[in-house]
Amino acid sequence: MNYFTYRKGELYCENVPIKKIVGAVGTPLYIYSYRTFERHFKVFDKAFQKIPHLVCYSCKANANGSLLRTINKLGGGADIVSGGELYKALRAGIPHNKIVFSGVGKTEEELRAAIKADILMINIESEGELDMLKKLSRNMKRKVPVSIRVNPEIDPKTHPYITTGLKKNKFGVLWSDARRLYREIAKEEYLVPAGMSSHIGSQILELTPFMEAVKSLKSMIQELRGDGMLLTMMDIGGGLGITYKDELPPLPEEYAKVIEKEIKGTGLKLILEPGRVLVGNSGIFVTKVLHVKKVPEKTFYIVDGAMNDLVRPSLYNAYHEIKPVVEKKDDTIKADFVGPICESGDFFAKDREMARLFQGDLLAIFGAGAYGYSMSSNYNARRRAPEVLVKDREFYVVKKRETFGDLVKGESTPPFLEV
Ligand code: LLP
Repeated sequence: MNYFTYRKGELYCENVPIKKIVGAVGTPLYIYSYRTFERHFKVFDKAFQKIPHLVCYSCKANANGSLLRTINKLGGGADIVSGGELYKALRAGIPHNKIVFSGVGKTEEELRAAIKADILMINIESEGELDMLKKLSRNMKRKVPVSIRVNPEIDPKTHPYITTGLKKNKFGVLWSDARRLYREIAKEEYLVPAGMSSHIGSQILELTPFMEAVKSLKSMIQELRGDGMLLTMMDIGGGLGITYKDELPPLPEEYAKVIEKEIKGTGLKLILEPGRVLVGNSGIFVTKVLHVKKVPEKTFYIVDGAMNDLVRPSLYNAYHEIKPVVEKKDDTIKADFVGPICESGDFFAKDREMARLFQGDLLAIFGAGAYGYSMSSNYNARRRAPEVLVKDREFYVVKKRETFGDLVKGESTPPFLEV
């Protein structure tokens, strides 16, 4: 369910025509629907209403400040994986005690900042990280609630780049090691064994892997109880998939039901780290056809957006729906939708069938709210696209298009190169 709809053949975001935004802001650009994002959060949060829980939005999916502020307004917290995300979450007003810190390679500086900010929980992922945290907490003389991200060894049956809970993945700690590390945590004056976490992957379309992960976490938490260690939080990460094409992911209510069944009566507070399911279909990427290029084999639509803006098709061969902003009735042809970057991997779609397009036509690429802007870069010295937030009849530029000045910001010239 989202608020990108066609009215009389023209695409709108909520009550604003896309063409109107493009007229003011230009292309390429990202457009987010406030009402969609809000709705997704509310539906997700409500699904867990029967159990104590906290929805910590996974900032990596899209860390635009206005989206983070929306999460805060709706009572959510944040799942962060870097000092930068900690900065952004706090800056957007998300309370320190609603922030969990995941990530396989936290630096000393990042851990120190998290301790200083007094966040809800640090999810550690290795023995080395625990050693670092022991040292820091002693030096800083600050209580630090910790959780170990265990690797439940579950196959979520998703893209290999985004599975994280398999034995061969770099993430988490195996249970055999985690148990020993929990004992070490308990011995520390300043470390508080607070929870256990896991995240098995992303764009997961079945309930079974989640159920297995929760079951396994529950039994590990119970074993620790047997050892006299009373954890209070279970963090099951994110990962619920969305519809990009014709996928049928479980509904948040269905997802909540299987988790609730396992967690009810345990006294544990559930922490969730959804990213994609909240923001993925809350955003589109809009790009314009620059040239129509025909070679004997193919037709190419060369558009002004590129892999630096939205890398998912290039990186994962991900499918994103593409539709003309103004509906077309012409006959359909198969074409490749490609960007201006000097790489054959710079494409949004290959052999996609669509009504014939012409120079200047606007295209909406759907499902671009998650891992779109957040994975963008300046490759080919392209300025990052602006981000626009629509609410009802209004739209707001929530991040400006970068300037050429931004491209050289921070650069300096050694004296021998000065002219
Ligand atoms: N928590 C942790 C510890 C994570 O590593 C992730 C995502 C999430 C939560 C949020 O997962 P979500 O609910 O969004 O599935 N760039 C890839 C996705 C990478 C996901 C990485 N971890 C893509 O574009 O598909």
